[in-house]
Amino acid sequence: MSSTRPSLIRSIRDINILGKTVFMRVDFNVPLTEPDSEGHRKVADDNRIREALPTIQLAIEKGAKIILASHLGRPDGQRKPEYSMEPVALHLAELLGKEVTLADDCIGEGIELMAQSLKNGQVMLLENLRFQAGEETNDLDFSRSLSRIAQVYINDAFGTAHRKHASTYGVAALVQEKGMGLLIEKELKFLDPLLANPARPFYAVLGGSKVTDKIKTVDSLLQRVDGLLIGGAMAHAFWAAQGDTIPEGAKLPKQADIDAARGIMRDAKKREIPLLVPADTNKGFDIGPKTVQKFSEMLAAAKTIFWNGPLGWFEKPEYAVGTFEVAQAVASGTAIKVIGGGDTVSAIKQSGYAEKFDHLSTGGGAVLEYLEGNGLPGIEILKISARQYKILTQALEPQDT
Ligand code: 3PG
Repeated sequence: MSSTRPSLIRSIRDINILGKTVFMRVDFNVPLTEPDSEGHRKVADDNRIREALPTIQLAIEKGAKIILASHLGRPDGQRKPEYSMEPVALHLAELLGKEVTLADDCIGEGIELMAQSLKNGQVMLLENLRFQAGEETNDLDFSRSLSRIAQVYINDAFGTAHRKHASTYGVAALVQEKGMGLLIEKELKFLDPLLANPARPFYAVLGGSKVTDKIKTVDSLLQRVDGLLIGGAMAHAFWAAQGDTIPEGAKLPKQADIDAARGIMRDAKKREIPLLVPADTNKGFDIGPKTVQKFSEMLAAAKTIFWNGPLGWFEKPEYAVGTFEVAQAVASGTAIKVIGGGDTVSAIKQSGYAEKFDHLSTGGGAVLEYLEGNGLPGIEILKISARQYKILTQALEPQDT
């Protein structure tokens, strides 16, 4: 797969969807609360639902018949009531100020009849796609059943675009008219420059725990960044690789992570890219004040910053200091600031500086895979050929009289 070029993907803005049935893949994989005394759950964090609203609202304004589809959790092809989309449907209806019909399944005759009876501007939400085993296996028959109800396919589920599943890939391949929603458009607007042409200096800040989970992303980033800053429990693997002792009580790195860290250090050295590893720590659960200062100084000069992974155990106030202080320093700079990963987004929000960041991505795994630079299945499948693209854009240009 080549790297994604959004110009070859149509936007929902440019597709005539008036009166058409639009199958819209969204990422409503949101955390739910524990059940109350009557067994009802609620949406605990609605960020992903809110991020999908502009596309849904646009589709309503444009007079489409909207079928929303998402997974929730990992029910592994079984109908598990705790993963029902019901709380999402109720929450979405509240946010939209409009009725959202929840279907009791995602395929079948009943669903097709419901889809046919939709009127322009009406919204229906399918039940959890992963209640059906065919979703994750990208089963052709399942994709066919889903696509039967769609005249237009729109993907706005950036957080799931790294999955080659029926709803993100198979259906897109079967429906002729397809494109991306406003959320994917926004994600690509901020992520593509990190791969292709970042304003320099470009620094990446990486935290979290496992180095091995991010190794391919780091390999790709090392070809693009002017400096790499490492924090969080991930730093322990780098300490071990350079022969430093891990503070007592702190998480010991796995051998695979130490090996991965050693490889990254070697590559950074070969490329003459500065790699900052914490010089001090708060008991191994947060970066220390010297490191905060060093990170802040380096990032103050940045023109582009990508940050993935908290720098400490920020859920505990005593270990949130490093992450929040670096967030403050980044917030006061002029760099383009892009944050990826659910935990990092939560940490930045809690720091109180979220407003100062240019983009808080809805992707976790998707953002890391996108930055590997090989495209994502759910985005690649939306591309049209250069020839088709030329014809379409010519048709949009004003004609000489
Ligand atoms: C996510 O939360 O990262 C996406 O919704 C994808 O979910 P998955 O990791 O269960 O495929």
